[in-house]
Order: sequence, then C-alpha cells, then structure tokens
Amino acid sequence: MRRAVWRLGYASEGARALVESGFSRFGFVRIIASTMAVNKASRRVLEKAGLTHVGTFYVEEPDRLPGAEHGDVEYEIRRETWDASAQITQGA
Ligand SMILES: CC(C)(COP(=O)(O)OP(=O)(O)OC[C@H]1O[C@@H](n2cnc3c(N)ncnc32)[C@H](O)[C@@H]1OP(=O)(O)O)[C@@H](O)C(=O)NCCC(=O)NCCS
Repeated sequence: MRRAVWRLGYASEGARALVESGFSRFGFVRIIASTMAVNKASRRVLEKAGLTHVGTFYVEEPDRLPGAEHGDVEYEIRRETWDASAQITQGA
C-alpha cells in the first residue's frame, strides 16, 4: 500500500472482509496467513482480523531481507472461532 494511506485502517478493513468472505461465501473451515516475524504492522492487521499466532518457522533463503533471521510467523482463524465471535458481535 502507498505510504500516504498507511495507518488509516484500510489493511485491517480489507483483511476482515477477506475473512468474512472466506467463511460465509466460500465455506472455508480454516484461514491462514503468514508474514515476517519482525513485521509488526502486518501482524497487527492479522490480529485485528481475528487471527491468532500459531507458530514460527524458518526458511533458508540465499538473499534474505533484514530481520529474516527472526523467521516467519503463521496465523490462523478457524470457522468455529469466527462463528462464535460473529454471534457475540450480533448479541446472540
Ligand atoms: C503493513 C500495511 C499493509 C498495513 O496497512 P495499514 O492500512 O497501514 O494498516 P491499518 O491502518 O489497518 O493498521 C493496522 C494496525 O497496525 C498498526 N500499525 C501500522 N503500522 C505499524 C507499525 N509500523 N508498527 C506497529 N504497528 C503498526 C496500526 O496502528 C493498527 O493497529 P491499532 O488499530 O491497534 O492501532 C502497510 O503498513 C504497508 O503496506 N506497509 C509496507 C509494506 C509492508 O510492510 N507489507 C507487508 C509485507 S508482509
């Protein structure tokens, strides 16, 4: 995303819409995402979309980006978790 529009909530809004679509439209049972461990903004976006950190992994690559030595993180949200949070939001 262009720097001029960082921190305005667009990535969070987009991530939430993708999760909603994945479960309600496409019937997924689990959605995962990964990013570099050092990428705080992306991790926060995933958390705001309801995903939780489930693991850290390390990939050997010849031309690593700065911070790659801290690995990559995997996040997930499962359908039952999303269903439960949707019910809370709707006051059920
Ligand atoms: C990562 C990126 C997509 C986030 O998009 P965004 O629209 O700025 O994100 P949002 O406005 O939805 O903010 C999401 C959360 O992250 C936080 N955040 C944003 N930038 C941050 C940073 N540099 N450090 C820590 N937290 C940050 C926001 O404060 C917000 O959390 P909050 O509501 O609790 O305050 C955007 O910053 C970007 O394009 N960065 C450059 C490229 C990049 O890093 N891409 C990702 C590679 S995996």
